[in-house]
Amino acid sequence: MDHISIAAGVSDQAQQLLTMSNRHGLIAGATGTGKTVTLQIMAEGFARAGVPVFAVDAKGDLSGIALAGKPHKEIDRRKDLLKLNGHQLRAYPTLFWDIFGISGHPVRTTISEMGPQVLSALLDLNETQSGILYACFAIADDEGLLLLDLKDLTSMLAFMSNNAKALRAVYGNISPASVGAIQRRLLVLDSQGGEHFFGEPAIHLRDLMQTDFSGIGAVSLLHAEKLLRESPKLYAAFLLWLLSELFEELPEAGDLDKPKIVLFIDEAHLLFKGMPKGLLEKVEQVFRLIRSKAVGIYLITQSPTDIPENILGQMGLKIQHALRAFTPKDQKSIRGIAAGFRNDNNIDVTHILTTLGVGEALVSTLDEQGAPSSVLEGTMAPPESQIGPVTAEQRKEILQRSPMAGRYDVEVDRESAFEALKKKTEQAAERAEKEATKEAEEKAEKSRNKTTTRRSNRQSMGEAFFKSTLRSVGRSLGTKLVRGILGSLLK
Ligand SMILES: Nc1ncnc2c1ncn2[C@@H]1O[C@H](COP(=O)(O)OP(=O)(O)OP(=O)(O)O)[C@@H](O)[C@H]1O
Ligand SMILES: [Mg+2]
Repeated sequence: MDHISIAAGVSDQAQQLLTMSNRHGLIAGATGTGKTVTLQIMAEGFARAGVPVFAVDAKGDLSGIALAGKPHKEIDRRKDLLKLNGHQLRAYPTLFWDIFGISGHPVRTTISEMGPQVLSALLDLNETQSGILYACFAIADDEGLLLLDLKDLTSMLAFMSNNAKALRAVYGNISPASVGAIQRRLLVLDSQGGEHFFGEPAIHLRDLMQTDFSGIGAVSLLHAEKLLRESPKLYAAFLLWLLSELFEELPEAGDLDKPKIVLFIDEAHLLFKGMPKGLLEKVEQVFRLIRSKAVGIYLITQSPTDIPENILGQMGLKIQHALRAFTPKDQKSIRGIAAGFRNDNNIDVTHILTTLGVGEALVSTLDEQGAPSSVLEGTMAPPESQIGPVTAEQRKEILQRSPMAGRYDVEVDRESAFEALKKKTEQAAERAEKEATKEAEEKAEKSRNKTTTRRSNRQSMGEAFFKSTLRSVGRSLGTKLVRGILGSLLK
């Protein structure tokens, strides 16, 4: 197999070549026009070709891919239109994931995996603040403290703020105001459910890049209903982690005969909405460079105008479902979208865009040379799996017999920065108390003996705290924690 059948026009077909599938793509259209089912047929096609798929399941309705479809005359009609001889109703190997750990296996990563760079960008920190965040990672690294979850990060920051004087010589100026600003932004992440996402066991990329016994690519679905509605920052954090992880972990591959993994990002406008400019530029670069790692990214959104120009310009495949033209502004954007298609046959793209039926679309693919094909008005292929969601019962069953069952389900909270610093604070307080008692005893002794005062070499509490931390926190824990995720791009 070297292509995925996407749609049938009157005299022609639109096919997505696997060799061109790392050139990204866009699936757009108004609500209810067929975007999710289009995603489903593409995901099935990749899976059949042995390509693992990762998809954001925005409404839960993509979950039907885990079950075989039921016979239906509309499926048969489309099967005939596209002359799909191999079409068979079947289920695809599916892994359910859920950051909140309810509708799927939990997805977690650690603060140190995330790295100071992505975190700074995500939190939109200014230069001074991100300097402090870098220092935070450096101190943790030097001290062998693990930064795993949000409380590790916040307690490290509090520690820095309290010991700014002692730390200045090595790590530069740490102003409590800047630390406070970082803390406040972390609070937003926390309030959106950050405690679920940051922690262990962290997900392994290879678990998202599996094939089953018969060589069919596993379809990983991120359940994102609540995530998209209530935790857009966390959604962005996850996608940034995934992109940087793929970028860092996968070797340069050049042009392969098929991608190593494809991602489908639904409600893609949420990723870009309010994204700080610096981060957007990085994401644009990642999109461009990740192609050579054999990763294809497909964005799903209502209108192409939701996607930043520089990313839109990188989309090889374009599937445009119907759009509504209510306002002059709508009409203007439709003309813009129409103008974006190569149109050798002079079809009336603007008109067609507003009159397409459900499960029909304008499609432009890339040919063997990577040139965009002339736009085709077509009927989309039918899926082999079930259209619409699985029931809660079915989901539970699938999760129980999942090969990932038990691997990520229970969170572990091993001793990391938070616990270590807490212990140190307690010890320092104890020590300070002891010294105070000792001093009081000395004073009493002195007044008794009337001898000259010996200068107290008692350290300030902060100094004692810091030095003892330096001395005694298990350095054996220390691995290089500062990772320059995306960093290699910025040089
Ligand atoms: N390729 C197709 N083959 C068969 N039926 C289809 C196809 N595409 C769409 N349909 C039908 O249209 C319905 C709506 O499609 P879909 O859920 O994909 O729309 P959508 O654009 O994702 O909507 P929303 O914006 O609400 O998420 C499906 O439930 C299905 O019945
Ligand atoms: Mg949909």
